[in-house]
Amino acid sequence: MTSTIFTGIAELVTGDALLEGADHSEHLGRLSDAAVVVQDGLIAWVGPAAEAPAADESQDVGGRAVIPGFVDSHSHLVFAGDRSAEFAARMTGVRYDGGGIATSVRATRAASDDLLRTLVARRVAEMHAQGTTTVEIKSGYGLSVQDEARSLRIAAEFSSETTFLGAHVVPQEFAGRRCEYVDLVTGEMLSACAPHARWIDVFCEPHSAHAFTEDEARVVLCAGRDAGLGLRVHGNQLGHGPGVRLAVELGAASVDHCTFLSADDVERLASAAETTVATLLPGVEFSTRSPYPDARRLIDAGVSIALASDCNPGTCYSSSIPFVLALAVREMRLTPAEALLAATSGGAKSLRRKDIGVICVGNRADLTVLDAPSYLHLFYRAGVPIAGVLDPAGRHGN
Ligand code: NIG
Ligand code: FE
Repeated sequence: MTSTIFTGIAELVTGDALLEGADHSEHLGRLSDAAVVVQDGLIAWVGPAAEAPAADESQDVGGRAVIPGFVDSHSHLVFAGDRSAEFAARMTGVRYDGGGIATSVRATRAASDDLLRTLVARRVAEMHAQGTTTVEIKSGYGLSVQDEARSLRIAAEFSSETTFLGAHVVPQEFAGRRCEYVDLVTGEMLSACAPHARWIDVFCEPHSAHAFTEDEARVVLCAGRDAGLGLRVHGNQLGHGPGVRLAVELGAASVDHCTFLSADDVERLASAAETTVATLLPGVEFSTRSPYPDARRLIDAGVSIALASDCNPGTCYSSSIPFVLALAVREMRLTPAEALLAATSGGAKSLRRKDIGVICVGNRADLTVLDAPSYLHLFYRAGVPIAGVLDPAGRHGN
């Protein structure tokens, strides 16, 4: 029941379009010299410090900026093993095709529950230390009934946003028997995994021999929907393809990567902007030496976008949203405000969450503090660890 007031906030970026007295340029909902009152883990009051109500406890953040906690809406944190040599090979020009996923599957299957749990805990802590307050976690390195279910059970210990990705690739023991694997994913595996998952995802990619075709992906997603799961799609990562079309057709909450899009894809996403978010993962393009998605074209067409890390052992082993933000601004020409909103309210929208991503009364008190006077320093000071989660228990910063 204790309430805490945070004062000394030089700049508060709320993302709240309705906040009275705020600067609403670029949809940031910004206040200077602000205060926030938190009670029972929720935001109870937001406004100018001079008008703040009394609270039981008070914390002065010392002239720092406060922003909504990052919502990392796409990650694959449940894996064991090491693929750094694959990364090094890509830096010399080797193309990514999804074949390396088998390496992570072998190591993940061989790992004990305790080891997997420790690895996930470490990665979640890494994210938290860089300002992330919500993380979606996919399975996808088990690819057997038992290993997918345990991946999701462990993921659910860290997040309510868990995603069943049994249709990541066709595992090696099913080579030449794709149909049988799709039957397993949509049958016994789905039944074992659905109780631990909120979402289902599929790697729909005609440019990878390991991933799934449009027809296979449709079968997987429809089975997931029938089992009560929300839909997400890995699509249009390695070349033009059916991922976006399928995601929009089925009303998926998110289609992720969107690196290669046709004019029709952009139009489809624009007309589905209230339903389907295009989640961009520029850490992947960085780590696979690929062209970046055309984010400006998407924004200018009215598409809803999110930015996420895709933290995974193959295409991007970075858990850092500040790194993603720096790439989005420097390489994809988003404005700093567009990038920040994409990694906060954009991520929340892609997870169909209204209680996170925006600092407003009633929302979860997920606050990130910057060791800097304004949000622009997130980009201006790229590579410097200035972001950390604001902890109502007393500590702040990193
Ligand atoms: O989102 N593209 C498919 N899945 C992951 C990479 C998986 C891996 O290579 O381990 C991604 O990029
Ligand atoms: Fe991914």
